[in-house]
Amino acid sequence: MTTSSRKLDHIRICLEKPVEANSRPFDDLVLIHKALPEINEADIDTTCRFLGKRLSAPLIIGAMTGGHPLVKEINVRLAEAASELGIALGVGSQRAALEDKSLEDTFSAVRDAAPDIPIIGNIGAVQLKRSGPEVIDRLVEMIDANAVAVHLNFLQESIQPEGDKEASGILEAIESAARGRVPIIVKETGAGISLEAALKLAKAGVKIVDVSGVGGLSWAGVEAYRAAEVGDSELEEMGRLFWSWGIPTPVSIIECKAQGLDVISSGGVRNGLDVAKSLSVGASLAETALPMLKPATIDTKSVVKAMNPYIRALRISMFLTGCEEVRQLASVPLVVLGRTRDWLDARGFDLRKYSVYRELAR
Ligand SMILES: Cc1cc2nc3c(=O)[nH]c(=O)nc-3n(C[C@H](O)[C@H](O)[C@H](O)COP(=O)(O)O)c2cc1C
Repeated sequence: MTTSSRKLDHIRICLEKPVEANSRPFDDLVLIHKALPEINEADIDTTCRFLGKRLSAPLIIGAMTGGHPLVKEINVRLAEAASELGIALGVGSQRAALEDKSLEDTFSAVRDAAPDIPIIGNIGAVQLKRSGPEVIDRLVEMIDANAVAVHLNFLQESIQPEGDKEASGILEAIESAARGRVPIIVKETGAGISLEAALKLAKAGVKIVDVSGVGGLSWAGVEAYRAAEVGDSELEEMGRLFWSWGIPTPVSIIECKAQGLDVISSGGVRNGLDVAKSLSVGASLAETALPMLKPATIDTKSVVKAMNPYIRALRISMFLTGCEEVRQLASVPLVVLGRTRDWLDARGFDLRKYSVYRELAR
């Protein structure tokens, strides 16, 4: 099976089946309501800077597609919507276009549709290791990218019949790429990044991670459906067993931030309140992928319509926590409840830092 046709399988399954994790970790974070916000709603400014450009809000439409003629239109609509909204966009893995040059325009069309926004290129870590750091320049050229995400997806590869599980030497490959002129973002794809992995990445010179933790799309889930379609019942069972494997998104944000990395929140970001919560525990931006897929099969307006409430709810969250600027969300008090609390306790984090000390420090 080619990279290109596998990509179509994934999109079809994501459009037709329930493919999300069985938990909603963001529900464990509760921002403390400020009955006296002491700011005017009209003065709220949701803008921020990312990769040298100004965004209207700290939002990215996450990496999904490109690499097959049938999905070019999806990419163009995502790009037009991101451009209209003034937010950033990630493209899906550019591997297919490296293998077949005729597919390049399914990616380059994104830059044509959105000349001014930050666009993030994408390649799998194993592919980077095999191709060497020079491949980054080709990826950047293809879409005039402002950064390149190197994705880690070993959970997915483990459940794929054709899965590529050669994970040795990846850190070295990332270290070489991080020495280049273009910012590298190390990105998971739904299983999160731990403190231990973040420490290694920081030492390798990586500055930005995109956590893509548990709570949203489950690749084990997607691959379970694929395995069922070809009658591989054992692999299907593996996909179901590992459906929600990994580190919940809020935990991953906190663990990566503790290593001094710039953090993009992703994996189950489903509204603007999740965006505000992400920023309150240390993320600089938040990203959503799966919820934009279906609208992008319709038209650009549908993507804008699906994305607009994120900005509106972020604004409301900022008003009710007394934040005029996005960066102030990093110091609002919140409580961490439930499984997320247990998890962080077990990992040695003192959660009073968020709930009590912040309020005292204000
Ligand atoms: C159809 C689809 C294709 C994806 N392809 C890629 C990819 O090529 N590269 C990548 O880094 N992530 C890819 N992802 C993962 C997303 O970028 C994101 O990390 C993940 O879906 C979690 O976010 P969500 O819960 O908001 O969907 C894909 C996701 C979807 C839904």
